[in-house]
Amino acid sequence: MAARRRPAEKPTLEGELVRLRPIGPADADSMWELVTDPHTRRVTGVTATYTREQVDRWCADAAKAPDRIDLAVTASGSDEYLGEIVLTDLDEVHGSANLRLSMRPAARGRGYGTEAIELVLSLAFEGYGLHRVGLEVLAINPRAQALYEGVGFVVEGRRREAYRDGDRWCDAVLMAILDDEFRARAGSTD
Ligand SMILES: CC(C)(COP(=O)(O)OP(=O)(O)OC[C@H]1O[C@@H](n2cnc3c(N)ncnc32)[C@H](O)[C@@H]1OP(=O)(O)O)[C@@H](O)C(=O)NCCC(=O)NCCS
Repeated sequence: MAARRRPAEKPTLEGELVRLRPIGPADADSMWELVTDPHTRRVTGVTATYTREQVDRWCADAAKAPDRIDLAVTASGSDEYLGEIVLTDLDEVHGSANLRLSMRPAARGRGYGTEAIELVLSLAFEGYGLHRVGLEVLAINPRAQALYEGVGFVVEGRRREAYRDGDRWCDAVLMAILDDEFRARAGSTD
């Protein structure tokens, strides 16, 4: 079945703990803190360095990007950017997308990341009619892998020694969840 056409406007999603809303220009300070955090860079394998001007421009333009949905994670009635969850490579022909999640250090371990993924998977499968959502997680990041497994992602394989971690190599673990797997889980928790 073909995926449904997405509205041009980026969505806002309400959960019990978090509210996800489109990233905008006011998020640049917080995003800058996240993209320059050494631990976050290590466990996500990011090597590119960004200038502050690039981050400003990125935040200003994020809501206009056509093949991706960049959402800020906010909570507790505040609009502050606590992290971001992104659906990238949205492909309506193949019904697929990839997912990325990163929380600011002080916002971790509160259940925000888990609920953010559940909301975005609902959007992907029920809102947009996608068939598959994939992601890649580094083998040095077992916490994130456990979180993804907890919401239904399945390990499909590895890209061996695809990343450098200091003076060692590090595998990338490939994971995905399909629409019927998502629905089976949603049905079992009703
Ligand atoms: C991985 C990451 C996205 C997880 O987000 P998070 O918001 O911290 O995740 P959650 O809080 O939902 O769940 C993580 C932990 O909190 C626990 N938790 C869940 N709900 C909770 C709650 N209400 N109160 C306290 N803890 C809770 C979970 O059991 C889990 O426990 P763990 O520490 O044993 O793993 C976040 O740690 C992060 O941004 N890390 C750096 C970047 C990164 O690794 N991104 C993923 C790249 S693939």
